[in-house]
Amino acid sequence: MAGIVFLNTTLLCSPLPCLTSSQLHLPLTRRIHCSTSTSTSYPAATDKLPNSIDFSVTGGAYDFTKATTSLTNELITSSKKVTLLRHGLSTWNAESRIQGSSDLSVLTEAGVEQAERCKKALENIHFDQCLASPISRAKQTAEIIWQGREKPLVYIDSLKEISLYHLEGLKNVDAKQIYKEEYRIWREDPANFVMNGRYPVQDLWIAARDCWKEILLSPGENFLVVTHKSILRALTCTALGLGPERFRSLDVNNGGICVFNFNTRGEAMLEALNLTAHMYSDHVYPA
Ligand SMILES: *[C@@H]1O[C@H](CO)[C@@H](O)[C@H](O)[C@H]1NC(C)=O
Repeated sequence: MAGIVFLNTTLLCSPLPCLTSSQLHLPLTRRIHCSTSTSTSYPAATDKLPNSIDFSVTGGAYDFTKATTSLTNELITSSKKVTLLRHGLSTWNAESRIQGSSDLSVLTEAGVEQAERCKKALENIHFDQCLASPISRAKQTAEIIWQGREKPLVYIDSLKEISLYHLEGLKNVDAKQIYKEEYRIWREDPANFVMNGRYPVQDLWIAARDCWKEILLSPGENFLVVTHKSILRALTCTALGLGPERFRSLDVNNGGICVFNFNTRGEAMLEALNLTAHMYSDHVYPA
């Protein structure tokens, strides 16, 4: 997957608190400079990309340091790549029902097909381990993707979806009616959303940090992680140094993939966000 970077424009446009303006400008300047220094002609935007890409591109700085704060607070054995994947369409996704940590919804037929597409798209990539949420819709997705691979799937609780207490099981339209104020805060001010005396989004940030430690301190260099949308948002935000108030600053579709690279200090660099080409074509990511 190296070299494929699909960044969400909202992410690019909102300056990250940990970057100085000179850090932000450097890659842009470089990109402009390099694109004028090559005489290769590019295919027109409407052309299909050739199968083997033979023009030069620059980027992919893997020797980064202090891109973000360390998620391990200790040196790790090697640099690591982590591919995060959201489960396929579930019965409750299809009904627009709030799922949270409940385990009553399962993959739909379309969701199974999406998981199969993910399997195909990732077939050339070697993963040392697959970690998954034990909740059915993610577990089923992971089982499909991992089928035929040798190592056992590893289920970890820190990959479970956010707890949404009495909102779980309700359709969004009904939750909005019945729990008007709570629902509004969940949507508009997630960091201050309180339920049952807990702050579910803040709790999720704690789970995400624990989860990163668990992943990054595991043996291996290349991990596949199959999980749910909210915890995936929390994993992405914590890796980028964003707080729970930024919960809704990114989104990942069913079957969507995010990729992070970590240096040996446990600092993250985002490589890809919400990769979904494989949902609409037979795209296979390179090893
Ligand atoms: C994620 O990808 C899907 C499919 O390409 C797209 O519809 C959706 O808007 C994307 N999400 C974001 C937040 O960019």
